[in-house]
Amino acid sequence: MAQRETWTSRIGFIFAAVGSAVGLGNIWSFPFQTASNGGAAFLVVYLAAVFLIGFPTMMIEFVIGRRGERNPVEAFKQIGHGQWSFTGGFGLFCSLVTLAFYSVVGGWVLSYILGSATGAYFGDPTTFFGSVAEGPTAIGTHAVFMALTIGIVALGVTDGIERATKFMIPAIIALLVGLGVWAATLDGASAGYSYYLSPDFGVIVENFWSIVPPAMGQAFFTLSLGFSVMIAYASYLGRDDSLPADGGAIVVVNTLIALLAGFVVFPLLSSTIGLAEAGSGGAGTAFIAIASGFGSLPAGEILGISFFVVLLFAALSSSISLLEVPVSYVSENYGYGRSTTAVVLGLGIFLVGVPATFGTTWLDFYNDLVFELLLPVAVLMLAIFAGWIADTDLVDELGRGSSLGSSFATGWLWWVRVVIPIVLLMTLYLGIQSLSEGLSSGAYF
Ligand code: PHE
Repeated sequence: MAQRETWTSRIGFIFAAVGSAVGLGNIWSFPFQTASNGGAAFLVVYLAAVFLIGFPTMMIEFVIGRRGERNPVEAFKQIGHGQWSFTGGFGLFCSLVTLAFYSVVGGWVLSYILGSATGAYFGDPTTFFGSVAEGPTAIGTHAVFMALTIGIVALGVTDGIERATKFMIPAIIALLVGLGVWAATLDGASAGYSYYLSPDFGVIVENFWSIVPPAMGQAFFTLSLGFSVMIAYASYLGRDDSLPADGGAIVVVNTLIALLAGFVVFPLLSSTIGLAEAGSGGAGTAFIAIASGFGSLPAGEILGISFFVVLLFAALSSSISLLEVPVSYVSENYGYGRSTTAVVLGLGIFLVGVPATFGTTWLDFYNDLVFELLLPVAVLMLAIFAGWIADTDLVDELGRGSSLGSSFATGWLWWVRVVIPIVLLMTLYLGIQSLSEGLSSGAYF
């Protein structure tokens, strides 16, 4: 076997992982999930999901990856539990399904870059959204986004992306802060903030069971968990790096960027299309809100272009991780060329994504399928594996390089054994219920 590369530096790893984590999930999906699930009530449950379930799950993927030192399927064999390699394989499958609709939304971003340049959405952002989110335009931009992803993965220029991420993350933060300050000056901003930030505990209690599945799905999705991506990335980590410290940095930066996006989108929503409308607006909410903001600004074209270009980069650094990991597995294990594999898998995924351009409710279906079914299943399998099958070996691995001491690692093990599986079984039950309700009521197609 060829000598495995390692990350050029620990910071390189953190940036690549942040590049995978920060994407459409933070700027598109997070505000729209929050808007349509009760605002601040959703936010509270989501933050709990990120820190209490997401972070420990990230540690599961990190320990499997670093101990396994192989791709996500072989890693399980290397740890001595080859029968569990389907778990890594399932993550690869989730990546590919996700990429199918991720690329459709990535295509919307391309249309918005163009629309910013020409001012096409300035007068009527809702109609503009409708015209680019569905039909031939959507298929075309989906194809272009997918081609870009395939191109980058085929050329193996992920280094370039790793470097680009170092600019992108500060750029995203700066842009969002700037936009957030501007959004604060809008009439009606305060209603947006209170919907976003003041949780009504009555609402949480009343809607708890319907908030949990999307909050949990969003937490896994935004942190790139359950897709085997973090297993693959951590397999290149040095023995002495502290996994909790690296993971903590990734989780905090990622959460911060999502929260910032909310500070832009909510004041915008309340001062433009209205919060009630936003709640039922679905996938288009964030795009329409942001576009209407740029449309009303003096230098809207320039701001719009820079915002959507940054969003495109964030989306690409995530989409390449979704394609890269399955491609490197297939080419490593079956000996196909890297470019051929990227093109063949990419084309297949493109076709799987085409139905998501038929209408935004189809896209909702893909979204819900991943969030409410595939991700909880994937993470449940990881937790059972780490907690009950591999157990103490992985605890040692978590302790290595970390100054947190063995009680942290033991606490983690029990959390992974007991709490995470219970929470996930519950999430899964609720998710399946809401998915089948959606299917039987004709909400999707
Ligand atoms: N975390 C990415 C986002 O928020 C999506 C993603 C999921 C990327 C899983 C890679 C793996 O947009």
